[in-house]
Amino acid sequence: MKSDFIASHELRTPLGVILGYATFLREEAKGEASEYAKAVLDSAVHMRRLIEDMTNLRFMEVGQMSLQREPMDVRDSLADARKEFVPLADAKAQKITIALPNQPLIVIADRGKIALILSNLITNAIRYTQDGGLIELSCFSKGGEAWVQVKDNGRGISQRDIENVFQGFFQVEDHMVRKTGGLGIGLSIVRGTVKLHGGRVWAESDGEGKGTTFTFTLPLARPGTSSLAPKPKTGPFIGQ
Ligand SMILES: Nc1ncnc2c1ncn2[C@@H]1O[C@H](COP(=O)(O)OP(=O)(O)O)[C@@H](O)[C@H]1O
Ligand SMILES: [Mg+2]
Repeated sequence: MKSDFIASHELRTPLGVILGYATFLREEAKGEASEYAKAVLDSAVHMRRLIEDMTNLRFMEVGQMSLQREPMDVRDSLADARKEFVPLADAKAQKITIALPNQPLIVIADRGKIALILSNLITNAIRYTQDGGLIELSCFSKGGEAWVQVKDNGRGISQRDIENVFQGFFQVEDHMVRKTGGLGIGLSIVRGTVKLHGGRVWAESDGEGKGTTFTFTLPLARPGTSSLAPKPKTGPFIGQ
């Protein structure tokens, strides 16, 4: 019932109003007032993210997450995600590098959902890596799959917790000592969404303080499928 409520329109509509007016205020206000407006805006943005997480979790729990799949190049998604998160990394003086293969990496996937997966993995990498850290994005083809990796040189994950992090609401750090952050459901959404696409996701780390690499795989489209291919037409025998 709680997650139904949080995901609901009742909560999103007033938040939209807060976001709208806080943006307006920040632009108009001067001096200290502008800082207050920024604090309101930042918190509202944070809250919107929590609500989005809850909504996605809820959709997955009730098996309602539907995919709009189409041929797409994984390289484009990764490059777009990098562009989106460079400002966030800049704020912590972190670098985000990207290594892409020369050949297209075509999968049949839901663009929005792939962006959601990448956004979760990259924001985690930024959040759980110290200032000045390094985040390396890469993708490549391996055994009929596209492999996508988000690697950081941050605080790492102990062997004990390396699987637990994919459980809903699991967080390594005690909730009372967390400064910022989410609800601990990002990675369970990632795992559910990757599975829906027929892929796998896992984490590797040499231990605490030694960085973490998250890898997810997606089945590659059959050779010959191009991102420019037209949508399949309805066959002549449908309905007979
Ligand atoms: N790149 C990472 N480096 C170290 N720990 C991580 C990383 N990504 C996730 N974690 C750990 O896994 C937990 C669960 O992650 P997630 O499901 O995204 O929830 P949240 O980020 O909201 O806490 C985090 O709280 C953190 O303890
Ligand atoms: Mg997270």
